[in-house]
Order: sequence, then C-alpha cells, then structure tokens
Amino acid sequence: MLTIFHGTARADSNSRKIANFYDELLGKKNIPHQFFTLENVDESIFNKTFHNPKHPQLASIEEHILGPTSKYMFIIPEYNGSFPGMFKGFIDASDVKKCFHNKKACLTGVAEGRAGNLRGMEHLTNIFNHMKMNVLHLKIPISQVHLMLDESGKLTNPEMIKLIDAQIDLFMEF
Ligand SMILES: Cc1cc2nc3c(=O)[nH]c(=O)nc-3n(C[C@H](O)[C@H](O)[C@H](O)COP(=O)(O)O)c2cc1C
Repeated sequence: MLTIFHGTARADSNSRKIANFYDELLGKKNIPHQFFTLENVDESIFNKTFHNPKHPQLASIEEHILGPTSKYMFIIPEYNGSFPGMFKGFIDASDVKKCFHNKKACLTGVAEGRAGNLRGMEHLTNIFNHMKMNVLHLKIPISQVHLMLDESGKLTNPEMIKLIDAQIDLFMEF
C-alpha cells in the first residue's frame, strides 16, 4: 500500500494543502493509496515517546496504516530549518521495525522561506537510511509555498504540478 504521510499537526497548515494535492493527483492517476496526517493523532503519542502499555491509537495506526504500507510519500513542513519535532517524536514512538524497515520513501519539503526544507529532507534521508529505508533521489523542495497556492488553498503553479507528477511516476517505478 502507498501512504501519503503528512508530517505536522498544525491547524490549517500549507503542507496539508500540498498533501491534499498529492491525494487528488494519485486519485486521478488511479493509484491506490491512503492518507495519514499527524493532525488527529493524540499529542501524547509524539510528546511522550514511551507509553507502557502502548497507546491504543498508536497500536491501531501501526496495525491498519503504517504496517501495511510499502511506500511512503512524506510531505514535511520546514520548522526552524528542518522537519517538525513532533514528526520525529511520532517516529520514535512507533514500532520502527514493523512500520518502516525495508520500505520506500519519497520526500517533499514545504516552506514559507526559500529553502523548501532542503536541509530537513537531507537530514531525513540519513535518518530513513538508518531505519533501513530507501529514499527516491527526486526530492521536491517547495519554497515560498504561500505564493504557489490560490485563494482556496489549491496548488496552481504549473511547473510545480508538472514536477510532482513526474515524481509520482518515478516513485511508482522505484
Ligand atoms: C514552528 C515553526 C517554525 C518555522 N520555521 C521556518 C523556517 O525555519 N523556515 C521557513 O522557511 N519557514 C518556517 N516556518 C514556516 C513554515 O515553513 C510555513 O508555515 C509553511 O507553510 C510550512 O508549514 P505548515 O505546513 O505548518 O504551514 C515555520 C513555521 C512554524 C510553525
């Protein structure tokens, strides 16, 4: 199963709008997939790494969403020069062997500034390799994301749409 993984719980985030665009495009391409966001995750999961016994919502997410995933499309905002702490907190809380080992990933960074979370994506690549994951070479930094969205929050930039389309096709072959 292919899973879009949206990496923040911030309300009305721009990265969610980009993740929604991936969701829509995968649908148009008839590619079966599911959508996962940190928005509805109980915050004690990423604020308190070790629950004993395991937090029931995390157990359910692992069983129904992350465990069955073979490929992840990560949409990750830039917070203070890298990925959000809550995203790493969630990964640290999860059963990494079951959810991430030997799986494939592609990365898209989303930022208000000019870096498009490039640093965060490089850092994540190293972390994911450490977690026995293979990462697609085509990583997309979306800089100044607010300029790429229309009033309704839809991605309209034709060059970016073309790049995302190509990334999806590459990732399907990966
Ligand atoms: C805690 C925090 C830190 C941020 N740090 C940066 C940053 O270092 N560089 C940057 O370009 N934008 C930064 N931003 C702005 C986000 O990149 C911007 O909100 C963008 O839309 C992606 O985040 P979002 O998906 O939460 O909206 C930060 C936002 C937050 C909430």
